[in-house]
Amino acid sequence: MIKKCLFPAAGYGTRFLPATKSLPKEMLPIITKPLIHYGVEEAMEAGIHNMAIVTGRGKRALEDYFDISYELEHQIKGSSKEPLLKEIRHIQNSCVFTYIRQKEMRGLGDAILKGEPLIGQEPFAVILADDLCVNDNEGVLKQMKKVYNKHQCSIVAVMEVPRNETHKYGIINPIKQNGGIVQIADMVEKPSNETAPSDLAIIGRYILTPDIFDILRSIKAGVNGELQITDALKAQAKEGRVLGYKFEGIRFDCGSIEGFVEATNYMYGKS
Ligand code: UTP
Repeated sequence: MIKKCLFPAAGYGTRFLPATKSLPKEMLPIITKPLIHYGVEEAMEAGIHNMAIVTGRGKRALEDYFDISYELEHQIKGSSKEPLLKEIRHIQNSCVFTYIRQKEMRGLGDAILKGEPLIGQEPFAVILADDLCVNDNEGVLKQMKKVYNKHQCSIVAVMEVPRNETHKYGIINPIKQNGGIVQIADMVEKPSNETAPSDLAIIGRYILTPDIFDILRSIKAGVNGELQITDALKAQAKEGRVLGYKFEGIRFDCGSIEGFVEATNYMYGKS
């Protein structure tokens, strides 16, 4: 059973400076809802109601967002504006939120390791809220949970990317594919076009088995001097304990300005 979802949200978000000087990247809105709101909805749809958020300095807006705002609620109660708070109220009423801080931004692997006290020794989901995933039928995490329930090992969401963009992602070395499920022999963080073992990139959705914490503790910093989740997953992949999942749906890289604008246009078109 996957009961908890970890949201690493401590990164600086430098691509959105100066906005992210005082506003967490995960609070940037796509139309009216911040990125993290979409991530939490995706986890809820997958039947998860325990949200563990890794924050950092200057990220208090995240905690405030999922808390009640008495003054505002009192002001708009009974007015035509009240329905605008319906969705966030639903989240507040049905989820538990826990928070921990990553004191130094030492990479995604380190942020996940910092989440260990909130997760404990159980398999868990990870959502990077700046990767916005949408699908008309089942959300991506719900699809991945089904794969986990069947195979009981770590699952990473993968998608094909243009060869000249492999340097932005963790790239898998696939052994064989069965429908949307890919067996992984190895993976490499941010390889060049020439050295990339495939064009299948890992995006910001994971289901991880809890031994990943010990692995993260045992490995050294990798690319960019950061502790890389890809390096920890490599160790599991060598033992045949990671599957790639080619999800159904669209993913927007909202950590980049181009992806953020695309997502905004897409959501506006749907609203
Ligand atoms: P990114 O690679 O997008 O880095 O992190 P960033 O700092 O957020 O953004 P830029 O590149 O400076 O614009 C991917 C995810 O990992 C989290 C981020 O919050 C984001 O969700 N992260 C990254 C951490 O929580 N801690 C870190 O030390 C690094």
